[in-house]
Amino acid sequence: MMNPLDNAKITEYREFMEAYLNKECFQYPDEPQKKLFEAMRYSLLAGGKRIRPVFVFAFCHMCGGNWKEAAPFAAAVEMIHTYSLIHDDLPCMDNDDYRRGKLTNHKVYGEAVAVLAGDGLLTAAFSCLARANYPAQTRIDAVSVLSECAGELGMVGGQVLDIQSEERECTEQEVLDIQSRKTGALIKAACALGVLAGGGTAKQLQAAETFAEQLGLAFQIRDDMLDVIGDAKELGKAVGVDGNKNTFVHLYGLEECERRVNLHTDAALDALNVYVNKTFLENLALDLTKRTV
Ligand code: IPE
Ligand code: IPE
Ligand code: MG
Ligand code: MG
Ligand code: MG
Repeated sequence: MMNPLDNAKITEYREFMEAYLNKECFQYPDEPQKKLFEAMRYSLLAGGKRIRPVFVFAFCHMCGGNWKEAAPFAAAVEMIHTYSLIHDDLPCMDNDDYRRGKLTNHKVYGEAVAVLAGDGLLTAAFSCLARANYPAQTRIDAVSVLSECAGELGMVGGQVLDIQSEERECTEQEVLDIQSRKTGALIKAACALGVLAGGGTAKQLQAAETFAEQLGLAFQIRDDMLDVIGDAKELGKAVGVDGNKNTFVHLYGLEECERRVNLHTDAALDALNVYVNKTFLENLALDLTKRTV
């Protein structure tokens, strides 16, 4: 098994994120809408690799910032990501019963609360950015980046293309257009937010975006592969459910997918050349090529 979360640094990043989310999010003892808070925390604290927060922390650190101070930025990206998963699993979308090793949100709380828990997470993410302990301009830039990457030009746009492409053959360019939006955009937001939090240069930001584009592609190709070669128990979600989707596996076949995961990861690593202390991220990117979760 190759779990990309099993070295000391990533464990430190991840545990810090878990503790922050658990302590800071959606605990309002005096508010009556308890089911909503419970549903939001159910999915947010269900585990997951926390790979996007790790990118926020790693880029912040590589730019010379104090990574722990970037926790609100990391939490914001993870909230958006979690909301996207809750909605992605709904019967009207991918109709999945398991996520992160637990029943999906709508299976536990019903569709209406699941939709609203996603809405709550989406909204709270921007509150998180707005209240972070950074200069006003940094927070405005962060809101601008995350909203663009998460919204109609990014993740939401990609999800629409993904749903619309079911039951027909897509061209390679169409599949790439879906991926860069539905998955790539949020990974790009995570890397960019890390650079913003760390006070990085324009050159570092550009490099982070190129890294994210390539890594995001490798990440989704691997996600599509895992639907075929993965283990549901280990993944915490069903496998073999992408039958009518335009996945990279349908487009390229498994062997070519594997080659391309490595190719895009190499391109991602190349982009890191403007950074000096990049070993952690290089190793993580390489581990992700073989991930089984
Ligand atoms: C799954 O993302 C959905 C995609 C965008 C491919 P992750 O594989 O990061 O899921 P978690 O956060 O670990 O559950
Ligand atoms: C998910 O893509 C992308 C988003 C949630 C934005 P998938 O539909 O392939 O993700 P999984 O396989 O259900 O995690
Ligand atoms: Mg989907
Ligand atoms: Mg899905
Ligand atoms: Mg998938």
